[in-house]
Amino acid sequence: MRQSCVNDAPPVIPAPLVSALRAARFVAALTGAGVSAESGVPTFRDAQTGLWAQFDPLELATPAAFARNPKRVWDWYAMRRERVGRVTPNPAHVALAVLERHAPEFLLITQNVDGLHQRAGSRRVVELHGNITRVCCSRDGTPAEHWEDTDAAAPPRCATCGAFLRPDVVWFEEMLPQDALAAAEDAASRCDILLVVGTSAGVYPAAALPTLARRHGAQVVEINTETTPLSAQADYALRGKAGIVLPTLVAAVWSASAPPA
Ligand code: OAD
Repeated sequence: MRQSCVNDAPPVIPAPLVSALRAARFVAALTGAGVSAESGVPTFRDAQTGLWAQFDPLELATPAAFARNPKRVWDWYAMRRERVGRVTPNPAHVALAVLERHAPEFLLITQNVDGLHQRAGSRRVVELHGNITRVCCSRDGTPAEHWEDTDAAAPPRCATCGAFLRPDVVWFEEMLPQDALAAAEDAASRCDILLVVGTSAGVYPAAALPTLARRHGAQVVEINTETTPLSAQADYALRGKAGIVLPTLVAAVWSASAPPA
């Protein structure tokens, strides 16, 4: 059983980590569902509350599932899109947006599809798994700006070709967007510090980024409420909620320094 260590007390940030972050030329962050948990967006693998504890990914998040029952898949994502529209960014999202303004070079790589990083003010964001608020043609990926969800038996259709529309997210068995993955791998290869926040670090290729970063000499800092397969190889493993740990970290590193440009 994974050990949970949810602690709302602000952690003590190790002094060498504060110094390393102050000196870093390039800070990158890899985020997962845990960063949005405190906004009320369910994670995937947390026992009881995780989406994959309640729903079968093979019935909802694969091309075959969409081919078998497009309306069920469409409705599930429509439900999640509607929930995401009702929540707001939390202090973890805000802290990463603040960090972006302090670091000389910064890239936020997210597996999340909720768009909360951008709503918190992050600008340099790479979305590895797409974005649930966008919809596209299931045949050729053309973005759809407007659609009407009026057919109880089928998803809306592409205005150009008539194929079903689908959420613009990456499903299991699909390739990640190549430009996003290339940007993420470039950042992992060049950054001085990689923050890995709120991810179970088990879904590839995103899960390979911390190893890539370490191989190229970066320090890896994990922020998670629980231990993960990454914990043992991280230079620092800060246990706690992202919404508490990240603001504490950013304040410890930059509160005494010059204001951001
Ligand atoms: P998971 O649900 O697998 O992992 C969430 C992680 O966040 C766990 O390690 C939790 O311990 C941690 N966590 C929960 N609450 C937290 C909090 N408040 N602060 C910090 N950490 C917290 O989600 P991901 O790792 O993002 O892919 O999952 C990766 C991918 O698997 C997702 O993008 C999705 C999923 O299947 C696709 O749909 C393609």
